[in-house]
This record gives sequence, structure tokens and C-alpha cells, in this order.
Amino acid sequence: MALSKSSKEWLQKTFGDGVRFDEPMNRHTYYRIGGPADALVTPQSRFELAALVTWCTSYGIPYRVLGNGSNILVKDGGIRGAVVDLSQCAGRIRIYAVSEEAVLVGAGGGVKLQRLCRYALKRGFGGMNFALGIPGTVGGAVRMNAGTQEGSIGERVTKIRFLLSTGKCITVRSDQLVFEYRRMGLANGCLNGGRPAVVLQVVFSLYPENAAFLKKEAEKLLENRRISQPPASKSAGCFFRNPASGISAGRLIDASGLKGYRVGDARVSPRHANFIINEGEATAEDVIRLMRYVQKRVSEKFNINLEPEVEIIGDETI
Ligand code: EPU
Repeated sequence: MALSKSSKEWLQKTFGDGVRFDEPMNRHTYYRIGGPADALVTPQSRFELAALVTWCTSYGIPYRVLGNGSNILVKDGGIRGAVVDLSQCAGRIRIYAVSEEAVLVGAGGGVKLQRLCRYALKRGFGGMNFALGIPGTVGGAVRMNAGTQEGSIGERVTKIRFLLSTGKCITVRSDQLVFEYRRMGLANGCLNGGRPAVVLQVVFSLYPENAAFLKKEAEKLLENRRISQPPASKSAGCFFRNPASGISAGRLIDASGLKGYRVGDARVSPRHANFIINEGEATAEDVIRLMRYVQKRVSEKFNINLEPEVEIIGDETI
């Protein structure tokens, strides 16, 4: 259900220029696809963020955090409720401790992962290079345990501070968290009764390393990525999770003869078959139809069900 007049008034009064109504999500996603969000809210402080979350909870208005828009497909009908941009209220990086063996760095959930990688690289802090080129935010990256073949983010997390839907904050240590392939969970059940918990801050454990060595390693990793993958623009990275069977989704799709296959302007990348790219004016419906076709063909040929890694959200129609 769309926001009521009084809800809009409250949001306008509380957030002023920090709220936009009926904001097209295609302006905020790498895919450049997605219908309007009822409200896009950018809280300027933790206090404003807590006010938004508790207000949404008490009026039953759905809310969700918009990361960097790099791993989502927003459907053409857009998103009901509030979409929250954390860049202003959880957008800082700070060093907590440095010793000869370890460096503890805290980063807000709204910090871009690439900013954190560059920050570490510049200061000679090792442990983040594996994430170079992953275009999400820190919050989004820990939620899905983002990674590459060189490592995943969960290996570096020491604790996470969450904001619950009640407005309360809690800190969860890494021994209470479970990081699996592209998933993060809690060792004992779910957080916040299954309602959304906002990642406010993550503390990472890094280590001092020779800056010249790190820079060389970074260049090599980025070059490998540039050669093997299409540019991140107008895609959401790898579309499917790699199946447990061990053969990568990209190889399975390729071996099904689907490279270059298209539905509307959505196309299986000719460079890397696990990328579904938007070649022009693709709609979410085009991408979803192509996704289903790829799933069907791979299932027929290999008897393997590919699951999307990209988060598909929103309504089909307004
Ligand atoms: N392959 C093909 N055809 C293709 C693509 C790949 O045969 O069209 C083969 C490759 O030759 C290789 C194997 O499949 O032997 C695996 O391919 P690749 O090395 O590109 O790795 P991937 O498993 O497809 C994973 C992550 C990427 C990450 C890379 C590099 C997943 C779903 N994907 O890709 O992450 O960048 O490793 O570390 O886990 C993402 O998460 O969005 C993402 C792109």
C-alpha cells in the first residue's frame, strides 16, 4: 500500500530535503532498472535513522536499506514503504587500534566497500585486497558475505553493530555470527525476530603489510577481474550463486550455449555467462524472463537448479 498523506507529512517534516517521494530506483541501481520507491530517505544522523526505523515499525511501514544498488534488481512496480540511504549517518571509517600484528578498522554500514579497500591500501593495512572491485557497501557486503576466489568479507569481521527495529542497538561478535558462501546468519537463530536490522558499523581485523607489495597485488587482482568480467555498469555482478556441485554457474550457462542470449535488452554477457547485463532499456521483467530461461536450460541439461545471487525486490506493478 502506498504511503498515506499523514505519513508523507511526517517524513517531510522530519527529514526535509533528506526525503524524496516516488523516487525512481533506476537512478540508484547499477542495473539502471527499477520502478519508484514510495520514499527514499537519507537520515543525516544516527538519531534521525533511529527515529525513522521506530516510526516505520510502529506504523507497520516496510523499510529497507539501499546499499550501493550493485547487487539488486528492483522490479518495475518499485518499492512500497521507505528505502533508506545510510551514506550520511553511517558513512565514516575510523582506526581503533594499530599494533605490529593487527589493525582494527571500523567502517559504517553505508561506506562503499571500494572506499574501505583504498583506505586500507593507502595506509599499508593488509587483508582487504580480495574485495577490490566488489562494488557494494560495507553493510551489504557483510549481509551477503561478499567475496571473490581470494577471500570473503566474513573472514575479516570482528564485530557488527546493528540497529534493531525497536530503535535499540546491539553489538554482535564474530563468534556469534555464521558466515557461509554469500550468506551471513546468527549462530543462534535470527536477529530482531526476522525484521530488518540495519548494519550500523562493522569492525574489521586487518594487519600491517608492506604498502608497495599491497599495491602490486591490487593491480594484479584488478587486471584479472578486468579481463574476465564485463564492467560492473548496467549489471549486478554475478547473477547466480555458484552451485554446491562445484561447477561454477558461469561455466554451466556457457556450456548450455547461452552466451549472448537475449530477452528484450537483457542479455547473457558474451564475456562471462554469469552476468546478465542491461544493454539499453531493459526492464526488470526482461531480466526475470531471461533468468527463468537460463534456469530452465541449465536444469534440463545438467539437472542443477541455479539460484539467483542478486536480490530481487519490489512489486511487479505499481
Ligand atoms: N567460465 C566459463 N564461462 C564463462 C564464465 C566462466 O567457462 O562464461 C569458467 C571459467 O573459465 C572458470 C570458472 O568458470 O574456470 C569460474 O569462473 P570465474 O573464475 O570467473 O569465477 P566465478 O565462480 O564465475 C566468482 C564470483 C565472482 C568473483 C570471481 C573472481 C560467484 C557467483 N562469483 O566467479 O563474484 O568476482 O569468482 O573471484 O561466487 C559476484 O559475486 O557478483 C561476482 C562476480
